[in-house]
Amino acid sequence: MSTPPSDTSLGRRLATGAGLTATLLLVAFLGWSWESSRLPDSYSVMDMGVADLGGGPPVDMSGHGHAAHGASHGTGISLVSLSGPKAEAADVEVTLEARQGRFALATGEELEGFTLNGTSPGPELRAKQGDLIQVTLRNVDVEDGTTLHWHGVDLPNAEDGVAGVTQDAVRPGDEHVYRFLAEDPGTYWYHSHQVSHEQVRRGLFGTLVVDPATPVAQDADVVAAVHSYKGRRTINGRTGVTRLPADGGDTVRLRMVNTDNGRLRTWVTGGAYRVLAVDARDLHEPTVVQEKQLVLPAGGRADLELTVPTDGSALRVDIGGGTAMVIGPEGVEVDERPEPELVLDLLSYGTPAPLGFDPSRADRDFDYDIGRRPGFLNGKPGFWWTVNGEMLPDVPMYLVEEGDVVRMTIRNDSGDVHPMHLHGHHAVVLSRDGVAATGSPWWVDSLDVLDGETYEIAFLADNPGVWMDHCHNLDHAAEGLMAHLAYAGVTTPYRMGSATGNEPE
Ligand code: C2O
Ligand code: CU
Repeated sequence: MSTPPSDTSLGRRLATGAGLTATLLLVAFLGWSWESSRLPDSYSVMDMGVADLGGGPPVDMSGHGHAAHGASHGTGISLVSLSGPKAEAADVEVTLEARQGRFALATGEELEGFTLNGTSPGPELRAKQGDLIQVTLRNVDVEDGTTLHWHGVDLPNAEDGVAGVTQDAVRPGDEHVYRFLAEDPGTYWYHSHQVSHEQVRRGLFGTLVVDPATPVAQDADVVAAVHSYKGRRTINGRTGVTRLPADGGDTVRLRMVNTDNGRLRTWVTGGAYRVLAVDARDLHEPTVVQEKQLVLPAGGRADLELTVPTDGSALRVDIGGGTAMVIGPEGVEVDERPEPELVLDLLSYGTPAPLGFDPSRADRDFDYDIGRRPGFLNGKPGFWWTVNGEMLPDVPMYLVEEGDVVRMTIRNDSGDVHPMHLHGHHAVVLSRDGVAATGSPWWVDSLDVLDGETYEIAFLADNPGVWMDHCHNLDHAAEGLMAHLAYAGVTTPYRMGSATGNEPE
């Protein structure tokens, strides 16, 4: 036992002092981080985010000839005025009643969740191009309130169904009417955009098909909405094998819709397929695909053309988990087969066609860098997603003017895949990891960006409003992976935050 020399003791005291100071600084920093991460009880999306002009000229957010951050302070137009036709009679008119509680899948399994008109998925809506669609959403008893977002439909902003951005959540006992023209034919879906990470996962969604004004000859045209209910894989709410009776030589358009948070792998046994459309946009000169799986991002759709073999056999479209659709003569079975290793790459599928705008002449050039780091999100500590290195509320507010050609570079360095979804627009894929697209124009509203990947996309800013641009793994969106695209001079009167009852994610 010896007493330590006094210089060590002094050193220790100094070290302790430094340690204490460091600790105090850390505590102060954490306190500040925590405090500055907290969101107000009520706020406008326009007051959030960091204005990003994408290298373009300043935009006039006020209508008074000066650029400013925070359009809600300006006197621009309210997005409420950007609605669908108000007076005309609707061609398709439907009421959807949202409920919460116990329900049964089409194959009988009982679950706790959400339904529309008593089922999940809700009714399959069909319209013809040019039709005016009117949907009345009636919230019977969904406690948190609900909305309907029309995923992939480039409709007027006020019909977009985002709680706290384009409307207030519809409370139990209340109604909301959506009206919009079915302008672009294709496969779409609808889902709640209020507490969506919970409501969609547990059933509050359905599909919408817009048939082209000039019909396409097909023997069958069928939707396959894929969803996992507590790990049970389903097609149109059915587990196991669903049968679609068809004769040899029949052509079938199968509209696959991925309503899950994860990627959907699908593959065909007993025949080949062509991909006619992706995200409600026809592909140009798609070729026949053999022995390759197709991957759909969360929220994404793909229309497959399948031809039933003429030798009396059937086709099997698998989605994994023993769930499949068998298409062919009654009673003919097709054995389950593991997924092919090769994946169809849409970057080089089909042949080029005009885009309708010149993406090399961009008015705005945005970065959407996705990362992850520890910190506080609205006061909660965690390992959260970042956009351009920042966490909510400091994520970008991408600002555009109507008519702008917009390029966006999406980089993902976050360790996970992100299915990125821009509302109100379709973007065309220009390149992936520096490799230019060489196939058909690949228009998307939902795009998987894998860890380590970089995509360049472009779109025409032709639909004024305030639009979400977020990850469609809805848990990730709730964990902060979302930003907005706003048009100069457009404001919203709606607010989010704990005091408002609006919680879009
Ligand atoms: Cu399908 Cu913002 O969502
Ligand atoms: Cu994500």
